[in-house]
Amino acid sequence: MSTLNAASLVNRHKKLSQALQAASLQAMLVNPGPSINYLTGMHFHLSERPIIAFFTPGNPPSLALPELEAAKTHGLPYELNVFTYGEDPASWGLAFQQAAAAAGLSRAQIGVEDRVLRLLELRILQGALPQAEFVPAEHIMASLRMFKDPSEVNAMQQAAQIAQKALQATLPLIKTGMRESEVAAELTLQILRQGSSPTLPFMPIVASGPHNSANPHAFPGERRLASGDLLVIDWGANQDGYFSDLTRSFGIGEISAELAAIHQVVQQANAAARAAVKPGTACAAVDQAARTIIENAGFGQYFIHRTGHGLGMEVHEEPYIRAGNPMILEPGMTFTIEPGIYIPGKGGVRIEDNVVVTEDGLQSFSDMPRELLSIG
Ligand code: CO
Repeated sequence: MSTLNAASLVNRHKKLSQALQAASLQAMLVNPGPSINYLTGMHFHLSERPIIAFFTPGNPPSLALPELEAAKTHGLPYELNVFTYGEDPASWGLAFQQAAAAAGLSRAQIGVEDRVLRLLELRILQGALPQAEFVPAEHIMASLRMFKDPSEVNAMQQAAQIAQKALQATLPLIKTGMRESEVAAELTLQILRQGSSPTLPFMPIVASGPHNSANPHAFPGERRLASGDLLVIDWGANQDGYFSDLTRSFGIGEISAELAAIHQVVQQANAAARAAVKPGTACAAVDQAARTIIENAGFGQYFIHRTGHGLGMEVHEEPYIRAGNPMILEPGMTFTIEPGIYIPGKGGVRIEDNVVVTEDGLQSFSDMPRELLSIG
């Protein structure tokens, strides 16, 4: 709860009520995942014991959960109806039914997060509420979570700072001959040592050389770093459930002029995209700013992904910074800027920053040098 206060939770509930009314839905149902943490201020894990919470305009939220987790609900700064169940799965439906009744739901249209709700919960819900209809409504939660309040922005800034300190502490240890997996292990240790919350957003990507660095989602493997390699490191930290997701690319020893030139182009594309970010600009225009630089340099065919993605309680969320996305940037939106060039058999470069849209432009959470640095 350290990034949260009662006012921000009540404000989230109010905004959710407005969004539900606008969508003609009677309730939003959330189960363990980022959204239930976002709305309740509690932390729940997805497990074999299902947990659900109903949010209904005009009623306090209601929650059904296992007895053994009920202690989490003590001392909350808002009103909540809590229904618990024991270890017999036959009793789960009753708790779900009680939670729905307390929320005034029976014939309702109820929004659910289609990527989060499992068949496990849905079957129990359908049994408990045979008259209700469950409607995909992930976009409602996405539209709330997309706008970060100052405490969330602060957590994301911290997550970026922790990540940067961790890489700074790791760089001097990186030597020619080390395996990618060893670099990833050192970096992971440093991320935790620098104060990341224990659940990392993802395992660091450490990708080296002509093939691995040219694969945007490579897994760290047994390859040993060699002079002349490009090395792509994509890593992040967690501050109270909010993530950072950064990438820097390095040269091992002396790299070819061609690879250095690629790095230069990506650095320019990253700068152009950041310069394009301000309220009123479309996501597609930010993507275009980066893409134009890379296309004009003749590498367009090697920029094989979108320029960025929203970031917060999930590593990938709204808004997506991609061609064709007409979504207009507004203050409080947070996302990555991460153009890259990947030439199979030669190598790849990506430079990724995390930013928040401000009233007149952006603030970058990450400020580590983006210039080509030779290490090893
Ligand atoms: Co990313």
